[in-house]
Amino acid sequence: MKFKIKRFDGKNSKFDMFEIKPKPHMSVLEALFQIQDENDGTLAFRYSCRGAVCGSCAMLINKKQRLACRTQVSEIVGEKVLTVSPYGPLAKPEFKTGDEILVEPLPNLSLIKDLIVDMKPFFKHYESIKPWFDIENTNPEINLMSQEATKKIDKYASCILCGLCYGSCPVSARDKDYMGPAALAKAWRFYTDPRFPGREIMLSRVDFTNGVWACDHVYRCVEVCPKQVPPTNAITGLTRKIILQRIKNILR
Ligand code: SF4
Ligand code: FES
Repeated sequence: MKFKIKRFDGKNSKFDMFEIKPKPHMSVLEALFQIQDENDGTLAFRYSCRGAVCGSCAMLINKKQRLACRTQVSEIVGEKVLTVSPYGPLAKPEFKTGDEILVEPLPNLSLIKDLIVDMKPFFKHYESIKPWFDIENTNPEINLMSQEATKKIDKYASCILCGLCYGSCPVSARDKDYMGPAALAKAWRFYTDPRFPGREIMLSRVDFTNGVWACDHVYRCVEVCPKQVPPTNAITGLTRKIILQRIKNILR
């Protein structure tokens, strides 16, 4: 089986072709290990848990944003893919040609080496919403969560910070100051948590041109998320709450 892999040495990019004998139930991550062991020890990629938990192995596989450890080789071999990437005025069709499996780094982030990208901008946006509880900012009245309240935040709390949504987002592609889907989904997770009394504070952290208002609402982030987090729904929720807050302020 052939793998066409994008390489980057700090200056130049190229594609290398590798041929391996796949094992049954092999994931793309395992194929990368095999290539590293048998063909080229310098091939660089990120991983940690190997079980879709740490989010480190996000990359573009056959032109789709996926986790390498969660993508089975047998499921994507021979796959023909046509995507439009990104959307909007910069849109261009992207084809995956050939029978080999095409592996590229996650888009929208600068390259460090081969399949390793610099995640700093992603985490900078994430940190900007201050996604944590602190002692002054926790409602001491609420220690136990109802099942209903837990359900509301569960689907947003399951984010593993893989960045697949960021790498698929057409707005992040053209605007590096856009907060991005994962940060906004996390803002909604805190906004809807009854233990977090600073709801208005959270709205103010995302209410600006490069925050919720920049979203194109094309649902690419929802489509690629391996944990079924729906960032676009979170963005719609935050936008609605900001508008309601503004109306309330006018009527006061
Ligand atoms: S929202 Fe989904 S795709 Fe985005 S970082 Fe979290 S787990 Fe990854
Ligand atoms: S190695 Fe942890 S998510 Fe893939």
